[in-house]
Amino acid sequence: MAKILDGKAVSQRVKNALKDETEKFVEKYGIKPGLAVVIVGDDPASRVYVNSKKKACAEIGYYSEEHALPESTTEGELLSLVEKLNGDEKIHGILVQLPLPKHINEEKIINAINPKKDVDAFHPVNVGKIMIGNFDFLPCTPAGVMELINEAGIDLTGKNCVVVGRSNIVGKPQAMLLLHKNATVTICHSKTKNIKEITKNADVLVAAVGRAQMFDGDYIKDGAVVIDVGMNRLENKKLVGDVDFESAAKKASCITPVPGGVGPMTIAMLMKNTLTAAKNAVL
Ligand code: GUN
Repeated sequence: MAKILDGKAVSQRVKNALKDETEKFVEKYGIKPGLAVVIVGDDPASRVYVNSKKKACAEIGYYSEEHALPESTTEGELLSLVEKLNGDEKIHGILVQLPLPKHINEEKIINAINPKKDVDAFHPVNVGKIMIGNFDFLPCTPAGVMELINEAGIDLTGKNCVVVGRSNIVGKPQAMLLLHKNATVTICHSKTKNIKEITKNADVLVAAVGRAQMFDGDYIKDGAVVIDVGMNRLENKKLVGDVDFESAAKKASCITPVPGGVGPMTIAMLMKNTLTAAKNAVL
């Protein structure tokens, strides 16, 4: 049976270390790292994520504020809020929870966030820095995946890493971070032919497609490291990943569970970026 990569435990260690660092920061500079979390509308999944982010801030000792706006908020109103937060000295990180309602252009909003406060690392300036490999902020979910791989003691040099999914939030930046660790990286997506033939050769598989339990044991190479970024709610309300855990775990050497794998790591990395933003603001 595969070893479980326990994201809950690893994220707790990361948060404990951040808490110690934050105490020193507050003592030295007399200010708390501050995160503004913006949520528009009432998507239940977004609400859960936003609550977890606020809770993590309280746990570590950050200042946080929530801006919960109605679904009817206009693009102009949201842009005004972002501008206000850009100029607010208490706020070092701005997080606008995605997805936004359809009448708001997400790209326009992301582009309006001051790159120095862009703790999601979604702004084109930060995306470009990630590509070059000289960055302030790591994208939260891909960075969380890298921490878990590192924690498992895996050297990625020369490994075949397959990322399934090409989103700007996960797939594309994930491929880049794996490349920076000298992996040979393949990105698969909805138009890829014979995905199974490709994933069957993966030493490391990162599944980020948003399709419940798509990757069963037949997709997995013996001894592979399997990382599941998916979060899918089944009709019976059960939360499952993109990987069929039971059958994949019979083949994998290490595997992340859902929940309790990548999810908590994403939040820990957001917290790390928030402290980085605060440090960069005072230094
Ligand atoms: N929606 C899904 N994942 C994320 C994330 O990492 N950041 C933001 N802002 N929205 C998301």
